[in-house]
Amino acid sequence: MEKHLVIGASGQLGIELVIGLQERYGIDAVVASDIRKGNDELANRSEFTKLDATDAEAVKKVITEGGFTTVYQLVAMLSAKGEADPVRAWDLNMKSLMNVLECAKEGLKVFWPSSIAVFGPEAEKDETPQDVFCDPTTIYGVSKVSGELWCNYYFEKYGVDVRSLRYPGLIGYRSMPGGGTTDYAVDAFYKAIEGVDFECYLKPNESLPMMHMDDAIRATLDLMAAPADQIKHRTSYNLSGCSFSPEELTLEIQKHCPNFNTTYNPDHRQNIAASWPNSLDDTKAREDWGWKPEYGTKELVEAMLNALRN
Ligand code: SER
Repeated sequence: MEKHLVIGASGQLGIELVIGLQERYGIDAVVASDIRKGNDELANRSEFTKLDATDAEAVKKVITEGGFTTVYQLVAMLSAKGEADPVRAWDLNMKSLMNVLECAKEGLKVFWPSSIAVFGPEAEKDETPQDVFCDPTTIYGVSKVSGELWCNYYFEKYGVDVRSLRYPGLIGYRSMPGGGTTDYAVDAFYKAIEGVDFECYLKPNESLPMMHMDDAIRATLDLMAAPADQIKHRTSYNLSGCSFSPEELTLEIQKHCPNFNTTYNPDHRQNIAASWPNSLDDTKAREDWGWKPEYGTKELVEAMLNALRN
């Protein structure tokens, strides 16, 4: 029987992934772990184990004693927060990955999220290809490029079945994200629902790749369920949903909330966003394991507003 451990389960992505795994494999097939338990009722139907992902011995103990077949290691400090303490961000992002990869040598399937943050000024901005020179300007991006190479190394050297996706900005309603650059978009939805103006820390025309959380979870589950010989990229797959700028998002939200208004006050996060792609070419993911997004910008906005209103 498959048994899934989610490390970093109380975060923005973790909560949604636990629920997605429950739906696909059953509540008892999933164990959530984090340094603290979240308060999402659905996610909390699965067992919770307290775990510090940077503690190698503790990670090994939980994985070995739990009899897991698959581990999703989601712990990370995101782009904007990472810049405030780069050494701590590197330490957290790398240790949490290495601790799982080491355990996986004994035969575990591993998922680890990468990001659009692997790309830097050198990469084409539009339809950024799968394989380009990566020169990230944030420590988060540096840790993601390094992590991708470590994943590939463990696959080549030890045969570890490790799989990864370069997520765009993830837009979900179950929990607030924290410390990312793309997170402005989630905040905009909350402001629209509250009926207050939104102050954006990016420029109006700063376009970024984005994705509805349902698409992200489906991509993750499909990638992990695909036969191993279909996984041709053991660094990480480009993954594309939709793309929009704050200005475009505002116009789309205004179709549902006519009084919604965005003001602009760009800060250091604008430089991070400017170093990232506008859109990604995810042909390889489509070819290798059948990826196809369901949410364009219009559908994403509708779904987010409906969910928050309910
Ligand atoms: N959403 C992340 C961030 O903005 C990128 O992966 O940091």
